[in-house]
Amino acid sequence: MKASVVGSGYVGTTIAAALADLGHEVTAVDIDPDVVAAIEAGESPIEEPGVDELVARHSGHRLSATTDYDDIADTAVTILAVQTPAREDGAIDPSYVETAAESLGAVVGEDHVVAIKSTVIPDVLEERIDPLLGEATLAANPEFQREGSALEDFRNPHKIVIGSADEVAYERLETLYAGLIESADPAVVRTGLREAMMIKYANNAFLASKISLINDIGNVCKAYDVDTYEVADAIGLDPRIGSAFLRSGVGWGGSCFPKDTSALIHAAREQEYEPEMLAAAHAVNDRQPERLLSLLDEHVDVEGKRIAVLGLAFKPGTDDTRNTRAIPVIEGLRKRGASVVAYDPVATLAEEFPDLDHAASAAEALDGAHGAAVVTDWDEFAALDEEFDRMADPVVVDGRRVVERRDGITYEGLTW
Ligand code: UDX
Repeated sequence: MKASVVGSGYVGTTIAAALADLGHEVTAVDIDPDVVAAIEAGESPIEEPGVDELVARHSGHRLSATTDYDDIADTAVTILAVQTPAREDGAIDPSYVETAAESLGAVVGEDHVVAIKSTVIPDVLEERIDPLLGEATLAANPEFQREGSALEDFRNPHKIVIGSADEVAYERLETLYAGLIESADPAVVRTGLREAMMIKYANNAFLASKISLINDIGNVCKAYDVDTYEVADAIGLDPRIGSAFLRSGVGWGGSCFPKDTSALIHAAREQEYEPEMLAAAHAVNDRQPERLLSLLDEHVDVEGKRIAVLGLAFKPGTDDTRNTRAIPVIEGLRKRGASVVAYDPVATLAEEFPDLDHAASAAEALDGAHGAAVVTDWDEFAALDEEFDRMADPVVVDGRRVVERRDGITYEGLTW
């Protein structure tokens, strides 16, 4: 099938490359000529395991890229995967989706399905996006891909959700994904447009709230000297709870959970409904970084002291720092007058904190430090050992349960 993918971020590029690998003839569209040139040269514009190899293999054959929407006029289906940033008030900014929809609507005809992967509120989809698409058929086709395993998640979906008001959209997307449906046997959920978008919001709201709930429980556990991880392991055995996403600690960040939960809270309030649970999930998440620092306060007066922050990425395996918990941790330390030295194997926060001291290794960050706060669960932090001997005051507060407790250091786990 001839397919097009608008937006070449981590979701769009992964999908474009994976669809080409499934045998489709795929054209990627992006407004950034550098991104287009990279794909045309066989290079992935994003870092995702396995994607660079697929782009190299299919570029020039079944995968091409363009800035020109005219080039995709004859494709049968377009996957729209552009960003939906959050506004100051928590609502989403759908302007990128609208601009892309307008450009698409100008070139595609009646026999064309546009599947929206970008996450928008149902009203926005129906009232603002649909009218821009001209005669094309609208579908909502949310993604559940994690950064760092976007390709694996695409290839092994637990479900494929297709929302539309039109049979032709279900059939076309099921044909597009036929290879996946055959190999991975996911549930295929045919539903309405509005329901499909809410499935995506609800999915992320549940996962974010699950982490916040175990963090809430973890804070109580800590006060009673109970190991939350043992509690989580046991409750996770109940299939109604499940063992995934029960790692308690300094909270969730990234490009999806904060944005999608804020958008849902905002959308609820627009309808004069106060979403107490979602608001609480946010409140707990906002509180965890400060709780980590309070633990440090119990052992060191950080004012004027060198304090190491280990981990800047919002999770391991990525250099993405969007909404990373490292930001409030560093802000809190600076507010206390500490001199912060940060280390991450790949990420930096040079843009957010231009004067932040970035060390070249964990050992260098710990050298002479009077305390260390662990924010990201990179594997290499689990292997730290004699590096702690370099600290002036070996106090370690761990927000991710990654550092091994050992003799000679004062160790505090955030929720254990
Ligand atoms: C998420 C969703 O998982 C994915 O389905 C969606 O499409 C995009 O958003 P992602 O943002 O890549 O994916 O990261 P994820 O692995 O879900 O982790 C999100 C945050 O939660 C990270 O900051 C992580 O450290 C934190 N987390 C995750 C926990 O604190 N505890 C856990 O048990 C799991």
